[in-house]
Amino acid sequence: MLTGYGDGYYQVLPTLWADPVNATRQSLVLIIVWAHGCLGAWFWMRGRNWYPRYFLFFYSFAVLVPLLALLGFAAGARSLEVGLPSTAWFMPVRTAPEIIGQIRTSITAGLLAMIAGTLILRAIPVRGKIRVTYPDRAISVAKGFSVLEASRAAGIPHLSICGGRGRCSTCRVRVTEGLERQPPASDAERATLTRIRAPDNVRLACQLRPNHNLSISPILGGDNVGLKAQPTEQQAAGRERHIAVLFCDLRDFTLLAQRQLPFDTVFLLNRYFETIGEAVEASGGVIDKFIGDGALALFGLNNSIEDACAQALTATTRIAKGIDVLNRNFMSELDKPLRIAMGMHAGPAIIGQIGCSKASSLTAVGDTINAASRLEGFAKEYDAQLAVSADLVRYAGLTVDDRESYNISIRGRTGTLETLIVQNAEEVEAMMEANRPPETPA
Ligand code: FES
Repeated sequence: MLTGYGDGYYQVLPTLWADPVNATRQSLVLIIVWAHGCLGAWFWMRGRNWYPRYFLFFYSFAVLVPLLALLGFAAGARSLEVGLPSTAWFMPVRTAPEIIGQIRTSITAGLLAMIAGTLILRAIPVRGKIRVTYPDRAISVAKGFSVLEASRAAGIPHLSICGGRGRCSTCRVRVTEGLERQPPASDAERATLTRIRAPDNVRLACQLRPNHNLSISPILGGDNVGLKAQPTEQQAAGRERHIAVLFCDLRDFTLLAQRQLPFDTVFLLNRYFETIGEAVEASGGVIDKFIGDGALALFGLNNSIEDACAQALTATTRIAKGIDVLNRNFMSELDKPLRIAMGMHAGPAIIGQIGCSKASSLTAVGDTINAASRLEGFAKEYDAQLAVSADLVRYAGLTVDDRESYNISIRGRTGTLETLIVQNAEEVEAMMEANRPPETPA
C-alpha cells in the first residue's frame, strides 16, 4: 500500500526473474538460508541414536527441497512471462521508484549503523570485568562472557565438542572458588549435568556466564582428543619374523559406555588409546591396530626377539602406570576405576600389508597372535592385569622358576602353553630388576 506495489507472486516473480542479478541473489539467499537451517538441524540430530538410520532420508530432503523450490521459482516466473489471467488477489502495479529507493536506502543505512554500533560497542572498554582464575593463570573478561568464551579469548585450550551448545559436557569445569555468587544453572545445563551425575561444584563452561570473580579448573584436558602417535609403516612387509605380541583390553567397557555421554566415551577412549600408544612406542613397539576398546601391539619388527620381549614386558608396566594416571585424572568422572587385561606371547608371525586399497594396513597374522589374544582372555578369567607366556619371559632373559605357572590349552594349537599370571603389571618391573645380571666391577 505504501509503495503502490502489489506484492503477490504475479508482481514479485517477474520482477526477480527479469533481472539476472536479482534472480541470482534470490536463489543464493534461498540456498544460504536453507543450508543454515540444515546445519542447525544436523547439529541437533547428529548425536541421536536414530540419526544414522534416517540419514539418507534427511539427506534427500535437504537436497530436494531447495532444488524443487528453485525449479518452481524458474517455472513460475517463466509461466508469468507468457501471461496468465489475473486473479482476485492480483493488485495492479503502480510504480513508485522514489519510495522504493528511499526504503532501500533506509534499510541499508540501518544495517550499516547496526554493524558499526556493534563494532564500536566491542571496542569500548567495559566496566565491571570478571576475573577468571585457572590453575596456571588468571584472566579478565567483560561481564556477559561465558567461561568457554573467556578461555577462547585468552587462547586457553578448552574442549567443547558440541560447539558450546550445552549438550556434550566436555567443556565442564570444577568451580573451586566463587561458585555461590554465580547465576544458577539453566534447565538445559542442569539436565546435562544431572545426566553425567556431576557434583554440585561442576558447571558447563559454555553455559556459565559469571557475574563475579571465580576460580575454575577444567576437567577434561583441552590439548587434544586424539592419538598423538599412529603406527608408522615398517620395512617388514610380507615376511615371517619372530615377534612379541601384546593384546590389551579395557574391562567392563560396555557398562562404562552406557553410563557416559557419547562425547565423554569417545574422549575417554582416545585418552586410553593415547596412553597405550605412548607406552608401546616409548618401549620400542608399534600399535598394529585398535579394535573397539582393545589394542594390538607388536614388538620386534626390526630387532631381535630377545629385545622385543624385554620391550613388551617394559610396555606392560608403562601401560599399568598410565592407566593409574588416567584413573587419578578421571577419578571424579568414573564410577569405578578403569581396569585392563593384557595377554602376551612371542613366536613366529607373518608380517605384511593386508587388506585392499585404503583399507589395507601393516599387520601380523598367525598362531602367535591368536595365542596372545587368548591369553588376554585368561588374564580376565584370573582377574589379573597380565597373562604372559613363559616363552616370552624366557626370551626376555628372565627366569620363571619361582612363579606359579599354568598350562593352558589354546584352541587350534596342539599341546599346552605355559603361562604366568601377573596380578599387577607393575610387578613386571621388579621381575626384570631382580633378573638383571650384576654389574661387573670395572
Ligand atoms: S561445549 Fe558442549 S556442553 Fe559445553
